[in-house]
Formats: sequence, structure tokens, C-alpha cells
Amino acid sequence: MVNHQSFQLSAEELPHQTQEYLETLFAVGNGQIGARAGHPLKVNQFYPGNPGVFVNGFFDSEPIQYGEWAYGYAKNHQTICKLPNLRGVVLRIGQEKSSDSEWQTKRTVMNIDLSTGVLTETYHITTPSNKQFDLHMSSFASMTRRELYACRYTIKNCDFPDAVELMHTLDQSFYTIKTDDPRVANKNHQLEKESISDYHIWTAPQSNKRIALRLDLKPHQLVEGASLEAIFQLALLDDNQTAPFQNQCVAYSLLLEEQRNSYRDFWEKSDILISGNEQLQKGIRFNLFHLNQGAGRDGKTNFAAKGLTGEGYEGHYFWDTEMYLLPFFVYTHPEVAKQLLTYRGSILPQAKARAQELGQSGALFAWRTIDGNETSAYYPAGTAQLHINADIVYGFQLYERVTGDQSLMEGIGKEVVFETAKFWLDYGTYAHKHGQDCFGIHGVTGPDEYSALVNNNFYTNKMVQNNLYYASELAERYGMYTEESSKWLAAADAMYFGFDEERKITQQDDCFLDQAVWPFEETPADNYPLLLHYHPMIIYKYQVCKQADTVLAEMLFTGDFSLEQLARDYDYYEKVTTHDSSLSRSIFSVMASRIGDTEKAYSYFMDTALMDLTDLQKNVVDGIHAANMGGSWLSLIYGFAGLYYDQGLRMTNHLPKEIEQLSFTLTYLGESVKVTLDKGNIACVLQTDSLLSVEEMDGGIRIRQK
Ligand code: BGC
Repeated sequence: MVNHQSFQLSAEELPHQTQEYLETLFAVGNGQIGARAGHPLKVNQFYPGNPGVFVNGFFDSEPIQYGEWAYGYAKNHQTICKLPNLRGVVLRIGQEKSSDSEWQTKRTVMNIDLSTGVLTETYHITTPSNKQFDLHMSSFASMTRRELYACRYTIKNCDFPDAVELMHTLDQSFYTIKTDDPRVANKNHQLEKESISDYHIWTAPQSNKRIALRLDLKPHQLVEGASLEAIFQLALLDDNQTAPFQNQCVAYSLLLEEQRNSYRDFWEKSDILISGNEQLQKGIRFNLFHLNQGAGRDGKTNFAAKGLTGEGYEGHYFWDTEMYLLPFFVYTHPEVAKQLLTYRGSILPQAKARAQELGQSGALFAWRTIDGNETSAYYPAGTAQLHINADIVYGFQLYERVTGDQSLMEGIGKEVVFETAKFWLDYGTYAHKHGQDCFGIHGVTGPDEYSALVNNNFYTNKMVQNNLYYASELAERYGMYTEESSKWLAAADAMYFGFDEERKITQQDDCFLDQAVWPFEETPADNYPLLLHYHPMIIYKYQVCKQADTVLAEMLFTGDFSLEQLARDYDYYEKVTTHDSSLSRSIFSVMASRIGDTEKAYSYFMDTALMDLTDLQKNVVDGIHAANMGGSWLSLIYGFAGLYYDQGLRMTNHLPKEIEQLSFTLTYLGESVKVTLDKGNIACVLQTDSLLSVEEMDGGIRIRQK
């Protein structure tokens, strides 16, 4: 039974009540606009919080200042710009104005409806002269018209006869939190503002990126029970664009109806039902909801690590997209996945230029970026994560396999695969190891950022091998096979994978297992995450992982390993992993499922499903952890349901005892597949006249083309 309560999330059910934490969790977005749930009266320092609005792709830039420079270092920062608290208003009753002094406000309602994306709030307000009333607000970012953010303000329960004047002012402060955390931008870019006829333009002074905003700014007199609807139109302008808005604004009620339909469609294709645990049910819905809110869909923008909910990681796009977020979209909303990959295709020129700058052939994608140029100032945990190249290719491959849509591969997709393959062939090294000529990738950093600049990182080598095989396969498919393609194949065949024969453990890299194990027992709990308490040199010399690395490779290629090997590696690496990155636990959950440890799988899943609601990483104020949200989908679908691509979709039931039933929908080769797992049983319903078939195999099922 679906409990509709689990589509409602209220502030009062949450463990914390601080303004900044709630602003992040209750942010509304549509992939283009993201608005933190700022206090509606905050236009200056009088009210609490760190509100603001983000527009995907709108950033400012400035040269990175290095104390010591070296050739090829990233040149410029890119920082997503935070616009003022657009939802903030100034209220005036007679001579009293909410921007002149602090009015007492008490939030009595804060609720987001996950089935529509509408945030509702009520504030009980007392003015300095003791006039009392309620300000009620509903707001959402339109999923059907992505340049629109809609707010409706209503005045209720006034204990005085006068009207309340409500004014929007754009001359508001820009807010940022001062912090020492290197993961958060400490830059407060002052935007330049100009007003032209009925719209306003903000320009980021260094990047020259421009945003246009249209809103009717006239003051409005509201009497008891009356509402004001403010529809903000916001768009990123192309370089020479002058007339930003073709469309007239539409009424709130129409937008709301469209919004409901859009969300109905979203949930129809991607809802997951977990019976037996209401809290988890809500947790997973909350996560999927934010995935819907954060994904850029115009082929020019992507999914920032914090979505559009905060300034953490400066609004940058990482490998998080392909490895943690894309699977959800590929299997439930492939049209969104296609747009995310189209963005990668659009930055191929920057990736080629970067490879050239490094004196290498082909293309090297930026580790972190908005416009495609590398912005990572600390290269050992940035540029050195060359695996991003192979991760992006993995994303294209997954899209093609699961959707059957070859249009991307026929165009920019195969260019991406070929150019990255060229890069690997040039960058990689043939070396004589254990009596054989092996191909390996040296001097790189794998996903585990607590080991840097290593040789033969297992994850990287495995992903590069996949990249090279796929490139030679595509070359053959498109009649483009050349001598170069045969070299890709040879390098893939010769790829080196380190193995510790004594311990029978897969080696994370050439040195990892020789290092001393981090002194976990002597490390105070307060010293995690280690990156905020120890110099990188100290961290790098120990066996300690920030996040899943070898275990992640084994999740992606589970079929290449024996169950015993997977279990041994899991046990080994789990003991040395801190999960200091939010990208870790979900992968450990999936692999615990696959090796049969359902208890651990469930416990890691609890952490991932509820990570932001409980503020597990203690930095929700800086934005949601989007990759973990995608990871919680992985824990359920790749983990509990054991989904694994192997000439079709294989699934195995790994349901933990705490979950009675799990049902979800996947889209495979354009068809909808409904799956239900009960204790020991998987049932699968295909469309009528389906071109797919379901076969039973190895204690599970496989769905493939008839
Ligand atoms: C992780 C990276 C991740 C980045 C952005 C870091 O803490 O180690 O793997 O890409 O966060 O989410």
C-alpha cells in the first residue's frame, strides 16, 4: 500500500531545525533554477540564514593564485554565482517596515510535497508595535517551463484592519557563509546589475556570463485572505543575446497544474516502494525527488555535486554524474540521461585542448568544471583523477546498452570514445611486469583521494580497459577500424591488474598494500574527515581509503570475479575505508548485498537513504550530496535487486530481512518493466506485446530482447 504521507516532508519531523540546514533540504529546483528555502523576510542581516538562488551554468571566474606554479596547472576558478534571496519581500504596515528592524517571526509550517515539488510555509509575524498576522507562502520551480520560479504570498489572521504592503526589491544582499572548509567556495562575487525596460540583467564581472530576470516589481497592498503571485522569469543569456524572454508569463494556477502532471509522470516512471519501513520510504523518495530537481536538461548544463541547493564544490560537475547519478536516469528517465551526456559531448573541444596542453593525444575531460575547462587547483586530487575520461565513456556505454538508442554513439558519443582511447594509448605505459609486457596507467589518482599519484590504480586500469575495448568495438561497428584501433585492443588485452598472491587480495595500486595501515585506533572520532585534520602527505603514506575504489570497480564488473574474491576484497578494503566521502557507503551497500551480507547492506543503505535528512556528513548547509542520492538508488536496485548488465538485465534477490517488499519500475530498450521483490522471489511484469522475455537463471532472472 502506498502511504501518501510519505510524499510529505515537514521540518518538524527532522532532527535539526537550523535555518541553513532547512534551506538546503527544502530547496526547490528544476535543473535550471534552484532556490534555497530562505527566510521570506530576509533582505538584510535582520533575519537568519544563507539564502539565495542558483541558475545552472551561471558562474564567475577568476585566476587561480598559486604560491608556486607549475606548467599545465588549471588557470581559472569557476564559481557558481548565488543570486539574492529572490523570494524575500519587504512588508510594510503603516510606518513599520520589515527591512528597518527585526520583526519577530515564528515558522509554524514548512512542508514540501514530494509529489508536486511545492513548498509551503507559514510564518506567524509580530511587528515591533505588536501587530500580528500570518504570512503564508507556496513556491516551486516549474518543471515544464524551466525559466520560471513561482511564489505565492497570502496574508491571513490579521489582528489589525490595515492592508499589508508587500514589495519585492532586487537590491538585496548577497549572502555567503565564511568557512575554512576547502570544499566550499569562499568567494562572494559581486554581480553587476542593470535594468532594461521590464527586465534586469546581472553580469558576473569576470566570466561575463549574464542572467536576465523579469518580475513585476510594483508594491502590492494585501488585505486579509488576499494573495500575491510572483512569477520570476530567469534565463542565462547567450553571448550576444539581447531579448531574453519570448514568452509571456503564465498564471500560477496553470503552472501548478502543469507541475502536478510533470511530477505524476516522474513518479510513475521512477517511484520505488519499500514496505515495512516508513522512514526509509520517505528517505528514498526525498533522494529521488532531489535527483529530479538537480539535473540540467538543455544539453549545455549538467548536474552539480550539490545540485542547485548550495555553494559546496562551487557548483562544479564531477564524475559523480556518470558513476552515481546517470544510472538512475538511464533506467528511468533516459531522455534526461541523454541531455547529461550531450553536455559532455559539448565540452569535447575543451577536453581536446586540455590533452594537447598536457602534450597528449586525444581528449582529457576536466576533473571538475562548469564550462568544460579544468578548474581543479589541487591537481593530485583533481586533474590526476584521469579516470573521469573512462567514467564518461562508461556513461555513454550504459546509455546505449540500456536504451538501445544509438543516436548518441553515431554522433558525438563515438568521438568521445575514440578521443579518450587515443589519450589512453598515449598516456599509458607498456612495462615488463611479472615476466610479461603489460599496459598500465601510471602517476594517477583513483577514486580514493587518500592515495595520490600512484601507478596502476586498479579502478582506473579496469575502466580504461573497458574504454579501449569499447573504442575498438565501435570502430569496427562503424567501419572505422584502423591500425590505431588494433592498438587500442592490444592495450586493453595487455592491461595490468595487480594481485597480492600471499593475501589473495586485489591490489588497489602498486604500493597501497605495502604501506602501513592507518592508526585507526588512535584516531579520535573528531578527527574525521581526515582531510580536515591531517596534511595530505601523512594521509598518503598509509593504507586508508576515503571511499570505495577497488570495491567500486568490482561493483561495475562483478561478473569478472569469483564470489570468494569479491568477499575477500570487500572485507579487506572495508577495514581501511573511512567513508569520509559521501560517495562511499552506497557502493559498500551494493557489494555487501552481492556477497550475501544483507545485514551490512541494509545498514549502509540506511545511512545513504537518510544521509542528508540526518545530516550524517554534517555539511548539509553547503548543499545536498547528490551522488549519494543517486547511490541510494544503486543500493536498492544494483544491491537489493542485484541488477547487473550481462547481455540483458540480470537481477537477483538480495532483499534484507528488514524490507518485506520492494517494487520499482525500469525502462529497458524503451519498454517499461515492473519488478517486485518479496522474500525469496522476484516477479516481473512486462508491457503487453513486449519484445522482451524473462528467463530464470542462477537463482535470479534475466530480461533480454526476444
Ligand atoms: C570525492 C569525489 C567527488 C567529490 C564531489 C569528493 O569528496 O572524493 O569523489 O567527486 O567529492 O562530490
